[in-house]
Amino acid sequence: MKGSIATVTAGVRKLHVKSYGCQMNVYDSHRMTDLLAREGYAEACPEDADLIILNTCHIREKAAEKVYSELGRIRKLKDAAAREGRNLTVAVAGCVAQAEGEEIVRRAPLVDLVVGPQSYHRLPELLAEAADGTKVVATDFPAEDKFDHLAPASNAAIRGRGVTAFVTVQEGCDKFCTFCVVPYTRGAEVSRPVGKIVAEVERLADAGVREVTLIGQNVNAYHGDGPDGRPWTLGRLLERAAEVPGIARLRYTTSHPGDMDESLIAAHRDLPALMPFLHLPVQSGSDRLLDAMNRRHTRAEYLRTIEQVRAARPDMAFSTDFIVGFPGETEDEFRATLSLVEEVGFASAFSFKYSPRPGTPAAEMAEQLPEEVKSERLQRLQRLIDGHQAAFNAGSLGRTFEVLFEKPGRHPGQIVGRSPYLQPVQVMASSTLVGEIRSVTITEIAPNSLFGTLTAEPSRVSDRVLLEAGG
Ligand code: 5AD
Ligand code: SF4
Repeated sequence: MKGSIATVTAGVRKLHVKSYGCQMNVYDSHRMTDLLAREGYAEACPEDADLIILNTCHIREKAAEKVYSELGRIRKLKDAAAREGRNLTVAVAGCVAQAEGEEIVRRAPLVDLVVGPQSYHRLPELLAEAADGTKVVATDFPAEDKFDHLAPASNAAIRGRGVTAFVTVQEGCDKFCTFCVVPYTRGAEVSRPVGKIVAEVERLADAGVREVTLIGQNVNAYHGDGPDGRPWTLGRLLERAAEVPGIARLRYTTSHPGDMDESLIAAHRDLPALMPFLHLPVQSGSDRLLDAMNRRHTRAEYLRTIEQVRAARPDMAFSTDFIVGFPGETEDEFRATLSLVEEVGFASAFSFKYSPRPGTPAAEMAEQLPEEVKSERLQRLQRLIDGHQAAFNAGSLGRTFEVLFEKPGRHPGQIVGRSPYLQPVQVMASSTLVGEIRSVTITEIAPNSLFGTLTAEPSRVSDRVLLEAGG
């Protein structure tokens, strides 16, 4: 009997991937899942898994520490699996893997495999190496293009992930902001060729994806080879992606203010599919701090960029990232950040306490600020941002938005979609509308979602998109 179960389940190994941090990790986790699906792995909950991959984030200390507490919980699962006579393989991937390498195996001996973001395409062979109990650490930056070796997602996998998708177009960063680990963990900037990106977007669209977010650590530094053999800008790539039948919406993230070039601003003017919402991290409103952070732009230059994008697309809204308590930040310099929030009127923003990252220049700077100062500033900034976000949402009341419906909503009979500004919108409507774009009038505002009703007229934009998709 035991033997027959083994026969039935042979070849079906179970995989659980947990993703932390940015959208690129979400994308990478999907690529690892797709690659391992070819090797016979099916997705499962952690309790049933034969292989758990933690795809980690190293951007701030708290993010990195989460990995070790999760490994503590996994230790129990590994012990339980051993009691059942099963082997649970534990892999740590992502930026903590890249930054800490062997240290992870030393600190958490239950880990079998440590794999950096540039080696995901080697997962099958690395797992084979680890199968006999050897601890495997793969954190090189190999010369080959990992994207060429990663598996494309099956149509079923794409559908299971919904009607919106990420596509990595660029990886790594050459900016070296003094607080940031990314240039060390993700390496130098590399852009994928236009043809491969377009092929991926086409595959997604064929499987029913309607919205694609082009992602990269410094996405607007994109300079991949075009079909003409010359480097293309992100603006041009967006223009090409907008031509893919079925793709109704485009976004891109995360951008550096210094790389908002003319072609990208023109894309905001010329491409209706490019959503009028831009995440443009500024980090600080103080010129002295921007300089100490090596951000390579001033406050005035940032504001000018915002103005240019607004001039190109008047319904534009912005979000940003801030760091408070960078070494040496004075109260006045912090207030310059507060005043920048007022001046731009961000629709939303993320704010973080400065977290010294080993190996980065800012971690070595004198005048590291006490935790209490950072916490107090963070609270003040977040209060201000919350007020702006609430005002932005309140301004949506009575307006009509195009909403892309993504999935069933919170309550029976409801479906939820996103406005152009990424606000979740709950509507009483049939779930057959998932994947469709409809005009919705906003009737009620709750703190984190909007409620609306379908407007009687079918939306002109979605009609056009459907016609194009049909043609
Ligand atoms: N400390 C705090 N926040 C950081 N970020 C990046 N590095 C650090 C750090 N060392 C923030 C920045 C960036 C976002 C992704 O994370 O605001 O834009
Ligand atoms: Fe980090 Fe972004 Fe600066 Fe690059 S541009 S170093 S990813 S904060």
